[in-house]
Amino acid sequence: MAGIKIGVFGAWRGNSYIRLFLEEEQIELVAICDKNLNELDDLENESDELERVAKFTDFDEFLSEGKKLGMNAVFLANYFHQHASYAIKCLEAGMNVISECTAAATMKECVELVECVERTGKKYMLAENYPFSTSNIMLNHLVESGKLGTLLYAEGEYNHSGTNEELARLTPGKYHWRAWMPRTYYVTHAMGPLMFATKAMPRYVSARAAHSDLLYQIRDWRHNYDGCAIMFCEMDNGMIARFTGCTAMASDYSRYRVVGDIASVECGGNIGSDMVRLFYFNHTKPENEENESFIKADIGEPDESAQKAKSAGHGGGDFRVVQNMIEYFLNGVDPFFDVYRSVAMSATAILGWRSCLNHGENLLIPDFRKKEERDFVRNDDLTPFPDENGNGITLPCALPYNE
Ligand SMILES: NC(=O)c1ccc[n+]([C@@H]2O[C@H](COP(=O)([O-])OP(=O)(O)OC[C@H]3O[C@@H](n4cnc5c(N)ncnc54)[C@H](O)[C@@H]3O)[C@@H](O)[C@H]2O)c1
Repeated sequence: MAGIKIGVFGAWRGNSYIRLFLEEEQIELVAICDKNLNELDDLENESDELERVAKFTDFDEFLSEGKKLGMNAVFLANYFHQHASYAIKCLEAGMNVISECTAAATMKECVELVECVERTGKKYMLAENYPFSTSNIMLNHLVESGKLGTLLYAEGEYNHSGTNEELARLTPGKYHWRAWMPRTYYVTHAMGPLMFATKAMPRYVSARAAHSDLLYQIRDWRHNYDGCAIMFCEMDNGMIARFTGCTAMASDYSRYRVVGDIASVECGGNIGSDMVRLFYFNHTKPENEENESFIKADIGEPDESAQKAKSAGHGGGDFRVVQNMIEYFLNGVDPFFDVYRSVAMSATAILGWRSCLNHGENLLIPDFRKKEERDFVRNDDLTPFPDENGNGITLPCALPYNE
């Protein structure tokens, strides 16, 4: 009998996970909720099993009816800026939660989410997948091996550009979050792999953004015309890190690099898929190593899992997120992106944007484990995102043009 009886909220991105959940013996998919159930059409043609899954268009009904069906966990793949409020509803209803990025869209929500997890004692994890691509896991192994010496610096980039047609498809509706999201906010794909590899937490952030003339041309329906934002963080292990949010730079899709005083490792960019580059100086190189080596990622995964990971998407990251969820929800193995690390990334993105708006001001990122640090931001609900009627915006979503 499946121990995890899961409901999926949001059936667009949710589709990818619905497929993966249907393949796992330990998971039973009991309910799906989306106000637009047409998102399921392609999937229903592929899978008869979906027929027996209860479907809802209203969230509250999904939660209460799902509970009657034994639902004990929810996968959140709803709108980017609404994860925290729905996570809280699910946790309060006794569900374990696995949430798409980002964990929270305001500082106030970061506090509320942490306190809800602590109060309810239910399980919460972020479904951040990029750290669990094959090459990022290999990068992590090399950093953990100690070959790099003292960790000094790490950098991460995540780029997602597209034609106007693609951007329009991804931005349905005048008040859709993708039309209003400042460039720092989608931080987890660039920052997550660096936190995973180095185990460091961000303490201070300073950031800058730059506008794109190409995006400025479509500002009437995509108001966030900055092409990139770069965040620069002091980390709690003494190293520094530089990373993007989601940028629209003409550059590689994603790339990551961790640098020590003895060696450095990098993946993504032009290194090759499932490959990691290891670099030493002559004077730091051990006798049995080359100055530069390109290492095929071997993460010791059984063949069957490696095969499943390969076909799941995002370099195997989606498959491994599901495996981490099974280990956490059924066997109590803590996930790397617990609620504290998850809100630390959200807070970096939120404060990073404040820093951009003030010429790179350096801002303290609260340690959300400490009540006194939560208290600094408990009532801070500034947001660049409108509600469904276009109200509620309290921050600009792009820098003043050309200033
Ligand atoms: N980790 C990844 O690689 C990855 C990839 C794609 C998307 N995402 C994340 O997944 C989330 C969803 O993104 P998306 O691409 O699916 O686009 P989206 O945000 O437009 O889709 C959200 C879906 O949820 C449904 N929904 C939202 N609120 C609802 C409500 N109150 N009641 C009923 N249905 C509701 C919408 O109808 C829609 O189908 C985002 O947070 C995004 O960042 C992550």
